[in-house]
Amino acid sequence: MDNKRENWGSKLGLILAMAGNAIGLGNFWRFPYQAAKNGGGAFMIPYIIALLLLGIPITLVEWMQGRLGGRYGHGTVGYMIYLQSRERLKPKKAIILGSICGMIIIGVTLLVNSYYNHIIGWTLGYSFLSATGGYADKSVSTAQFFVNYIQNPKYVFLFWIISLSCLAFAVTRGIQKGIEAWAKLMMPVLYIFSFVLIIKTLTLGTPVKPDWSALKGLSYIWTPRWGDLNFKTALAASGQIFFTLSIGMGIIQNYASYLKKDDDIVNSALCTISLNEFAEVILGGTIAIPITYAFMGPEGLSQSIGLSFISLPNIFRTMAGGKVLGTLWFLILFFAGFTSAIAMYNYLVSIFQEEFGFSRSKSSLLVFTAYIVVGLPVCLEPILTKTATLSYFTELDNWVGTYLLVVMGLIEVIATGWLMKGNPIDEINRGAYFKAPKWLYTVMIRFVTPITIIIILLGSTIDYIKEGYFKLIPNFVKDTPNLVPWVNGARLVLIFIFILGFIGTYRSIKNKYSKEIEENKVLIIK
Ligand code: PHE
Repeated sequence: MDNKRENWGSKLGLILAMAGNAIGLGNFWRFPYQAAKNGGGAFMIPYIIALLLLGIPITLVEWMQGRLGGRYGHGTVGYMIYLQSRERLKPKKAIILGSICGMIIIGVTLLVNSYYNHIIGWTLGYSFLSATGGYADKSVSTAQFFVNYIQNPKYVFLFWIISLSCLAFAVTRGIQKGIEAWAKLMMPVLYIFSFVLIIKTLTLGTPVKPDWSALKGLSYIWTPRWGDLNFKTALAASGQIFFTLSIGMGIIQNYASYLKKDDDIVNSALCTISLNEFAEVILGGTIAIPITYAFMGPEGLSQSIGLSFISLPNIFRTMAGGKVLGTLWFLILFFAGFTSAIAMYNYLVSIFQEEFGFSRSKSSLLVFTAYIVVGLPVCLEPILTKTATLSYFTELDNWVGTYLLVVMGLIEVIATGWLMKGNPIDEINRGAYFKAPKWLYTVMIRFVTPITIIIILLGSTIDYIKEGYFKLIPNFVKDTPNLVPWVNGARLVLIFIFILGFIGTYRSIKNKYSKEIEENKVLIIK
């Protein structure tokens, strides 16, 4: 516990690493179709409200929790919540809350990445196929090509393992030489590639039909459809804010734990939020949908995976310079995904390092193995069942990639607003050049933010009940009985990881703070 912790090498490195953490597939892939589907420009109203009421306060809370945990030698969330809540809750109860949080975050960082690593592998595979004309044969539709891709063990395994090995390599090198160095290279390149694609998109003209153009695509995303503005849109917007800022995932806290005691967090957090929002709203919003609209009109705009892996390749294989542009597009996705996945990877590495005293390379190898094991069902399902529903992936994403992030966000603000002794705003403002106002605590963190999260959580729960996610057989696999075991398999894995996560966190907190917990009063203060 008293081992010297690593630190970030420079402010720029820290900000780029944190921006890399937040800027991910969520920005380039999830955001555009969420906006297009949920009211176009009208989506931006709940989106901006969610950014102000949830995104900014929770991000500041997470940076503060991380820096606080780092001071005590911890990079994981279970300890952070324990430390924050032990004064008011007393150590014996705080350890339970801490263990629940540790459990959720181990579930998130292990299982979200188990499928996210695959998508990163696909983006690498598609970069290669774009450059080499791998999907150029027009006798196979790009939709069929994608299905063939995920059912082809050669492609899937090769690019998955390459991506995972790169992640392992980067994490093994440590905070400064690994994570920071890769972010400093990948983030600027990502911005440059995006600008190239945007310029190309906006100068496309009307390549296919006179009334299909990139500008029409832009107005498709941005024209407000006020009639679509409802509670469901608000839920989607809040979900997007959680996902894109990486909040409720434990990875902001983990990166912030490598800060020094007096490092400015207000400024750095606001900088990374701005970089993320720029990459999301401006860059993410100006590539995929406008390009697709120019070539395929409104019908081309399929949702989610389809837009990136089906519609766009179909365009790249016909347009001039498509090989280069296709490669750039998939490399943008790869860099974005890679610099996010590395954060989850590092979270798990910190557990092995801090709990078992393993070296970084040994920890990194163990995490690599764990990702292979939990990631196998994701790629085996399409191969073995000859389907493309990805139900194991979907089930995990519903819980650890969506629902539980909101639950974690709620616990974090309650721990900060109600359980922490002293004024959290002083802790946030320590070393800050621009101080956060007092009302961030008295109004937002204590009341507005938690109440908003509770409303969202209730809304999501009702939605989940309607979709049958709480039933033994959820609606999305009702008509495909051969996929039911994959969904229930995902649930078993989840439960198993949770049990392990809870026991593991409980035991380690108990171990390090044994005296304090026995006497049920706070003894260790740093
Ligand atoms: N903010 C990230 C994104 O937009 C979320 C994320 C981080 C997802 C790490 C997976 C792994 O993609």
